[in-house]
Amino acid sequence: MDTRLAIRARGITRCFGEVVALDGIDLDVEQGQIHGLVGPNGAGKTTLLGLLLGLAVADSGSLEILGTPVGRALAAPDGVAGFVDGPGLYPSLTARQNLAALAALRGHGTRTGEIDDVLDQVGLTDVADDRARGFSLGMRQRLGLAAALLTRPRLLVLDEPSNGLDPAGKKHVHGVLTRLAADGTGVVLSSHRMDDLEALCSEVTIIATGRIVFSGPLSKLAAENRELDYRLRTSDPEAARRLAADTAGIRIADDAVARRDTEALVVRALVPALDELVVRLVRGGIALRELAPVVSPLEAAFLALTEQREDAR
Ligand SMILES: Nc1ncnc2c1ncn2[C@@H]1O[C@H](COP(=O)(O)OP(=O)(O)O)[C@@H](O)[C@H]1O
Ligand SMILES: [Mg+2]
Repeated sequence: MDTRLAIRARGITRCFGEVVALDGIDLDVEQGQIHGLVGPNGAGKTTLLGLLLGLAVADSGSLEILGTPVGRALAAPDGVAGFVDGPGLYPSLTARQNLAALAALRGHGTRTGEIDDVLDQVGLTDVADDRARGFSLGMRQRLGLAAALLTRPRLLVLDEPSNGLDPAGKKHVHGVLTRLAADGTGVVLSSHRMDDLEALCSEVTIIATGRIVFSGPLSKLAAENRELDYRLRTSDPEAARRLAADTAGIRIADDAVARRDTEALVVRALVPALDELVVRLVRGGIALRELAPVVSPLEAAFLALTEQREDAR
């Protein structure tokens, strides 16, 4: 037993009939860490988060939450809050009434001002007295997060919390999660998009078809040495294309970006070859106006890792 760990999972397997949704998952999440779980649709993210929330039990493997082994009972382990597939809310109650009702159901009252405080944290103060029925997906997600905050969780589990969030909503949610983690709460959240998690997570686990294909710090993922597609914009696209075609280690990618945007040139290369191309462009009197990866290095690593896995099936 390791009390620094909010989650310690070993060899977790979960099947639905013939479908192996989770296939030998090992996962460590430290307290105070925001851990991202990322993978394509159907990878097993919701299934795994459901196990953490006590909504289902694993077929095999061992799971410790906040230092306590999880048994066979279907109940949220102590200190854990969150939801999968959207929060359960009462449509006919207002945001404020929902929070009061959920707190009462869980058998703990709320201190004066506590509900206002969590509504403020998630940015729902202005709609506190509106019925949940009219709430957008992003507002429902934030109300669900507010309800979770009321329980003062030591492990927060959120399934695709960015879905439906507008930029202001995202800012509120990021603020809440960052503060919780700084106070020592472990946070696990899923997404099917890598770029979503880049701003928030220090560590990520990438799963594809029920198996872990990467787990560790984001920096390690980005550092992996692989060719990326870069978009170049220059003062002379035609001459730049000829030079690129003539530079060792550079391949001209005929991708959707280049076809949409004929002014731009998209090349696939490792960094040293790209350096060489830039030097040659400038020496040749061609000005470089823009140079950027078409997708972020993390997104590229994610795609490469999950595509390999799909191919292996
Ligand atoms: N209740 C269920 N009954 C049958 N199959 C399920 C059930 N829940 C999930 N699955 C299957 O398990 C796999 C993983 O699903 P899920 O955990 O929802 O993936 P994700 O959240 O990563 O999109 C999928 O193949 C899905 O069809
Ligand atoms: Mg899911």
